[in-house]
Amino acid sequence: MDAPKEIFLKDYKLPDYYFDSVDLTFLLGDEKTIVSSKITVFPRVEGSSSPLVLDGADLKLLSVKVNGEELKNGDYHLESRHLTILSPPSGKFTLEIVTEIYPQKNTSLEGLYKSSGNFCTQCEAEGFRKITYYQDRPDIMAKYTVRIEADKSLYPVLLSNGNLLEQGDLEGGKHYVLWEDPFKKPCYLFALVAGQLESRDDMFVTRSGRNVSLRIWTPAQDVPKTAHAMYSLKAAMKWDEDVFGLEYDLDLFNIVAVPDFNMGATENKSLNIFNSKRVLASPETASDADYAAILGVIGHEYFHNWTGNRVTCRDWFQLSLKEGLTVFRDQEFSSDMGSRTVKRISDVSKLRISQFPQDAGPMAHPVRPHSYIKFSSFHEASYLIVHLLGFLSCFSSLQVYEKGAEVVRMYKTLLGSQGFRKGMDLYFKRHDGQAVTCEDFFAAMRDANDADFANFLQWYSQAGTPLVKVTSSYDAEAHTFTLKFSQEVPPMPEQPVKEPMFIPVVLGLLDTSGKDMPLSSVYHDGALKSIASESQPAYSTILRVTKKEEEFVFSDILERPVPSLSWGLALQSVLNRSLDGDLFFLLAHDSDEFNRWEAGQVLARKLMLSLVADFQLGKPLVPNPKFVQGLSSILSDSNLDKGIYCKGNNTTSEVEIMDMMEVADPDLCSCFVRSFIEATCIRTESEFLRRQYGRSPRFTLFVLNVSTS
Ligand code: PHE
Ligand code: ZN
Repeated sequence: MDAPKEIFLKDYKLPDYYFDSVDLTFLLGDEKTIVSSKITVFPRVEGSSSPLVLDGADLKLLSVKVNGEELKNGDYHLESRHLTILSPPSGKFTLEIVTEIYPQKNTSLEGLYKSSGNFCTQCEAEGFRKITYYQDRPDIMAKYTVRIEADKSLYPVLLSNGNLLEQGDLEGGKHYVLWEDPFKKPCYLFALVAGQLESRDDMFVTRSGRNVSLRIWTPAQDVPKTAHAMYSLKAAMKWDEDVFGLEYDLDLFNIVAVPDFNMGATENKSLNIFNSKRVLASPETASDADYAAILGVIGHEYFHNWTGNRVTCRDWFQLSLKEGLTVFRDQEFSSDMGSRTVKRISDVSKLRISQFPQDAGPMAHPVRPHSYIKFSSFHEASYLIVHLLGFLSCFSSLQVYEKGAEVVRMYKTLLGSQGFRKGMDLYFKRHDGQAVTCEDFFAAMRDANDADFANFLQWYSQAGTPLVKVTSSYDAEAHTFTLKFSQEVPPMPEQPVKEPMFIPVVLGLLDTSGKDMPLSSVYHDGALKSIASESQPAYSTILRVTKKEEEFVFSDILERPVPSLSWGLALQSVLNRSLDGDLFFLLAHDSDEFNRWEAGQVLARKLMLSLVADFQLGKPLVPNPKFVQGLSSILSDSNLDKGIYCKGNNTTSEVEIMDMMEVADPDLCSCFVRSFIEATCIRTESEFLRRQYGRSPRFTLFVLNVSTS
């Protein structure tokens, strides 16, 4: 078995050969499966005839032909994980390879495998090499046709990517199908499913009038549980048209949900495959959170059709190019379909509870890592901490997906919705059908808006969570208000000196009655910049914090304001001790609901940390009455989204408290949080819930013991 190998981003090399078209034939059998591939190959550099190295694993090679001629032993070199064609003809040629594979014995759940009687594939990231010899890397994009032959009674449903061209019966109780995918794709998006499945069928008419037939395939007994998934799919298709102008591009879209699928879900072109538990729901048992999760994941995989499939990654270091962007898109989708604030609160909590500690620990790596250890099999890697990505076992999904999404969110904060859309349009105009890098995305955003993004690219290369401090001062005579920022990115063994990061901050100033003040100009970096235009007053502005220390001085501020800062991203820990008093005010008044929640969280963390000290001394727990009042103002505000009642009253988690302690004490924290809840809250009576929601909600809610009448 090959030793694990460190792969470096800087070592990326363009392939020597590209593939144009790939015709695959599968003869599916219970003993063995025969895979024939016919590939048109052309060299990157005209006239070169360097060896063509193909990846392969667990394959039995039956034959290999170049331009129709069978190769002899000396014409190729076969090793355990590669097949090398030693001197291919110069110019375009066809390569035909026949392999034999044993899906029924494939327990790696990568490549083609059989499970519960059905055939199924998983090719992301490097599973295709277990199906046939190929250049298994995402920058090889080709057009595929796929013919599948199998026993008709055992495998009545035969699916692959693209549109269905032909189907019919064969001798001996067999049948066949022919699929054609007109879009170029990398092999990690190839998929095949064969078996006994039933479908829920529906239709979507795209905005240009194309009829798309939608099918969700499951084992027969699960079909009734796919109604919400179908609703989610149609909503996602409509949303991508409305928000990004992105229309679906084929005549059909298939989803398969099977219980034995290894990963949560994958975005194979027009044939998304899910683990059943991510898709199925029945009203008797599913909670609100279950429905929301299905909407999000169906949207996520569908949105990959443009961000991942039509435009894909040059190499696996660029994973965040597709995942960060697609998570951002699914977050926006869920926000538009439900409550934006509630969705944002959940996402930010998830980052703080899970991503922050990881980003501060020994597994921290940037959104785009500089290197990764490659294992030749999932099995080999499994004695280490294995994250979602199987063979990319040192990539953390949280850093690539969730932190990556925050970085994408930053572009939107900086450019606004319209500017962000302009950047996306240019990204697709430039790169449709290509395999690209995070810099290409960055360049599209920048060029479409003529923007200056300063040190923004640091976010892709530097790990860690910046610690930001903010202090403010008001000069009543000069009528100026000053905000001072300082940031520190904690050093790590492999990167002892860290550069400051780019942190956009959206700022508004509130007057004593809680109303937004008009802003005229700000002095920063030696220059006075006006915020309001001649015709229009401005009530908020974006500050670009890019240095270790810097200050912003606002002029024409007639009374001491309360600053409301919303961070363009949730990737920084904020310390603003001087603003403590303001937090009670923001908790009660901020017009930005997320900020209101955030103020409550910052206060809760501080109050709880000081109560932990009391608790250790055995003193009774007495919650701060101003804090209790702030929370009760949320509970009695009938204009707020219902979900915020729930989120707003979630107390700080044990993990967050442990993070704040010099020496973390899990036992103490767990005991403390329980006692704190008992001391301050009661579990609500269903009567209250019915009044608030008109029905019994599906989640448990803790509310303070306050009168809500
Ligand atoms: N690409 C999948 C998704 O984000 C996740 C995945 C990664 C699945 C690797 C399989 C292998 O939707
Ligand atoms: Zn994804």
